[in-house]
Amino acid sequence: MARHPWTAADIPSQAGRRAVVTGASAGLGFETARALAGAGAAVVLAVRDLEKGERAAAAIRREHPAALSLRRIDTASLASVRAFAAEWPAEWAIDRLVLNAGIAAVPRREESMDGFERQLATNYLGHFALTGLLRPALSPSARVVSVSSLAHRSGRIRFDDLHWREVYGAQRAYRQSKLALLMFALELDRRLKAAGSGIASLAAHPGLARTEVFRRGDRAGAFQQGAGRAIFSLIGQPAAQGALPILYAATAPEAERGGYYGPDGVWEARGYPKPAAIASQALDRAAAGRLWAVSETLTGVRFAL
Ligand SMILES: NC(=O)c1ccc[n+]([C@@H]2O[C@H](COP(=O)([O-])OP(=O)(O)OC[C@H]3O[C@@H](n4cnc5c(N)ncnc54)[C@H](OP(=O)(O)O)[C@@H]3O)[C@@H](O)[C@H]2O)c1
Repeated sequence: MARHPWTAADIPSQAGRRAVVTGASAGLGFETARALAGAGAAVVLAVRDLEKGERAAAAIRREHPAALSLRRIDTASLASVRAFAAEWPAEWAIDRLVLNAGIAAVPRREESMDGFERQLATNYLGHFALTGLLRPALSPSARVVSVSSLAHRSGRIRFDDLHWREVYGAQRAYRQSKLALLMFALELDRRLKAAGSGIASLAAHPGLARTEVFRRGDRAGAFQQGAGRAIFSLIGQPAAQGALPILYAATAPEAERGGYYGPDGVWEARGYPKPAAIASQALDRAAAGRLWAVSETLTGVRFAL
């Protein structure tokens, strides 16, 4: 690691780079996009709600006269992910792809239009498909950064019931989705390396950050949402600080491919970027290979590495 602590002031110039951030309309994605724009990157805000995205873009433009653009994506919809990739301008090489969009603790089981459990669809499967489809647009030294969570540590992949059709637990489904995304990030880097590619895959988590994640109007009312809000407002760190490990993974020259970064404080809940603890189940290569194969089947997206 470089000198300590690493802050947004340490982000090297991103002039000449293009970054795509999913879920950039709020929270960590917004802060990540804002900091990347501040460092001179051309940033594409990949958002579900264009009006909300336009407000986010306007807020960033007020601070930085950066080259910002807005494109619509619903990571919970394979059709939307495919449209995003199909409409991607061929001449726009991507240097940083930040897989950040996410939802948490959806109180009752919901399905995406593809028939997937909604948290798995939004947080993981959509990002798996997006990365595979955008692979040809990634520049030779691109970084793909997956935003996982402390919650991955108590997650497990339920291969026998990935979509929680038999029994549903809001937190368990969230943990599985974040574990899946981290396993994907690590497996992607192994595969890229094996293929001799200069593209790197890294992962990060924000600790506990005060964002909109437990403030969704459409999900209000459930006990878990209230408890989540209370805990995060008590001990959560500001979203801009929670974004630091993501920014470190995306920009720090010393961040290692295949690395996972999070805050350096107690329980990795808050603080400044450092290598983060990876739970043993996330390091299970056989399970990662199996998850990859299942994800290809479910999404219909095959990676050309
Ligand atoms: N906050 C934390 O402490 C924490 C901890 C660990 C991990 N994380 C992870 O950090 C990431 C960002 O979360 P956050 O805390 O910043 O929450 P947030 O403030 O709720 O932001 C989430 C973003 O994702 C977008 N999004 C949600 N569903 C989407 C979909 N189907 N398609 C496209 N975009 C979608 C949201 O757009 P809309 O506003 O339009 O819904 C919003 O821009 C998530 O992956 C989350 O799991 C957060």
